[in-house]
Amino acid sequence: MSLENLLFEIVEGVATVTVNRPKAMNALTLETLAELGDVVGKIVNNPEIRVAILTGSGTKAFVAGADIAMMREMTPMQAREMSLRAHRIFAEIEQSAKPFIAAVNGYALGGGCELAMACDIRIATENAKFGQPEINLGILPGFGGTQRLPRLVGKGRALELILTGEMIDASEAFRIGLVNRVVAPGELLAETGQLARKIAVKGQPAVQLCKQAIVNGLEMDIARGCAYEVELFANSFSTADQQEGMAAFLEKRLAVFRDC
Ligand code: CAA
Repeated sequence: MSLENLLFEIVEGVATVTVNRPKAMNALTLETLAELGDVVGKIVNNPEIRVAILTGSGTKAFVAGADIAMMREMTPMQAREMSLRAHRIFAEIEQSAKPFIAAVNGYALGGGCELAMACDIRIATENAKFGQPEINLGILPGFGGTQRLPRLVGKGRALELILTGEMIDASEAFRIGLVNRVVAPGELLAETGQLARKIAVKGQPAVQLCKQAIVNGLEMDIARGCAYEVELFANSFSTADQQEGMAAFLEKRLAVFRDC
């Protein structure tokens, strides 16, 4: 599929996807979603890619939501189809063995906030703003916001954000745990890239097992989650990386992981 609305590059095992519709604040159209689905599939299936970064083009917006002009005339059936399409892509990001980092460079509203929340780690610029303004359009979040926001920031804060539709700035997003870190706008891609590379040099089986344990374990009660961790922990001892990591520590040298 040719990419009209996204930029996609791979450098040293780190893929960067940039939503590129700056005239519409990088709002997500059906075409943009289709391209995103295609690119996420490529990231998941390309063994050269170890970590992915999602960002928006320009300095104003990460993604200002689903495209309102496109949604205006949608029937309930079409809205359902669009919501399902986005949910499939966002679930693929969340369930992918590879870590996804959102580099939030401005407005992350509606579907944009939801896209950032589907990622594993969020880094925001000082001028970033987050919100679920759907209530002001007479609808509700449809790309996972009612489910992922309360899981990240708690029920009360999620309800306040979703019922008022008000935006919060990056420092408030940091305070409530919606973002991991806030950086100066000029430093966003350097900081995110540095974090991505830190993760990319680890042994991939361990990276994948860590993500799997946290993402899936969070959906379980504590006893089942801990039992799940036991199984994944045991699995990590069947890897060559475990042998190498422990030998390297005991021999006082750097580990050379082989991703197996
Ligand atoms: N869809 C379509 N176009 C959008 C858009 C969106 N979500 N957000 C911004 N744009 C367009 C504007 O219409 C405008 O286009 P024109 O230049 O052709 O008029 C252009 O981007 C620039 O926007 P503004 O002039 O409004 O810029 P601003 O700096 O004054 O405000 C903003 C920026 C606060 C992001 C404001 O544009 C805004 O509030 N956007 C809508 C945000 C929103 O409601 N998002 C939720 C969408 S619903 C959703 O996402 C549902 C879901 O769960 C999937």
